[in-house]
Amino acid sequence: MSTTVLSAAQAEQIIAHTADFVRDKFLGEGSGHDWEHIRRVWHTSRALAATVPTADQLVTELGALLHDVADWKFHDGDEEAGPRAARAWLSGLQVEEAVIQRVETIIREISFKGLGVPTPMSTPEGEVVQDADRLDAIGAIGVARAFAYGGHKGRPLHDPAVAPISHDSFESYKKNTAPTLNHFYEKLLHLRERLHTPAARRVAQERHQFLETFLQQFLREWEGQDLPAA
Ligand code: ADP
Ligand code: NI
Repeated sequence: MSTTVLSAAQAEQIIAHTADFVRDKFLGEGSGHDWEHIRRVWHTSRALAATVPTADQLVTELGALLHDVADWKFHDGDEEAGPRAARAWLSGLQVEEAVIQRVETIIREISFKGLGVPTPMSTPEGEVVQDADRLDAIGAIGVARAFAYGGHKGRPLHDPAVAPISHDSFESYKKNTAPTLNHFYEKLLHLRERLHTPAARRVAQERHQFLETFLQQFLREWEGQDLPAA
């Protein structure tokens, strides 16, 4: 769809300007919300959007660049902080209201909120950006990000005494302080089934398989199953 009366050159300029803004804001962030995560989600979103004819390019790219701009996890649980920050930035660039609203919607809807909480996306651009964000939470990079996040929060790698939970409310998911390995069972292993676009589902196959391989090897080493027999 075309939500915009801008020329392609004007749209490119808004995107480039927004990328600079987000890069400056996030460079050096160590919690898993670094600029490189956003850059990957942006590039992945572009590749996925090319396979979804109904996805508007400007909305998709702005949504990808701004999706973590003020994450509730780092703003005392304020879920409107992200949409508010995106609106403030985009209205300063004279971006039209319809585009701003679609970007706000992506940010509002994108987050995982617990295994038992459905998080449907109401726009094709949102489906693309959520898929891109979720592809970055699985595979080798997903593993690295999970442990970076857990380390940032001071959590143990693993504790076999703590069972994974299927959070069926956002409140319960937000309060979670489980060891990092639980996050694989509470979220990461389920992302593959929650993707929207066929292109993302194809990419996810190999990344998901890597999660399975990683977990198998992690638990093997944890139990000492690879040690010489006594
Ligand atoms: P996304 O950017 O995919 O929306 P989040 O904002 O929820 O993901 O989290 C950022 C990164 O930190 C992701 O890779 C996610 O899997 C990881 N993460 C989030 N919560 C936890 C947790 N409780 N333990 C380990 N990793 C986590
Ligand atoms: Ni993200």
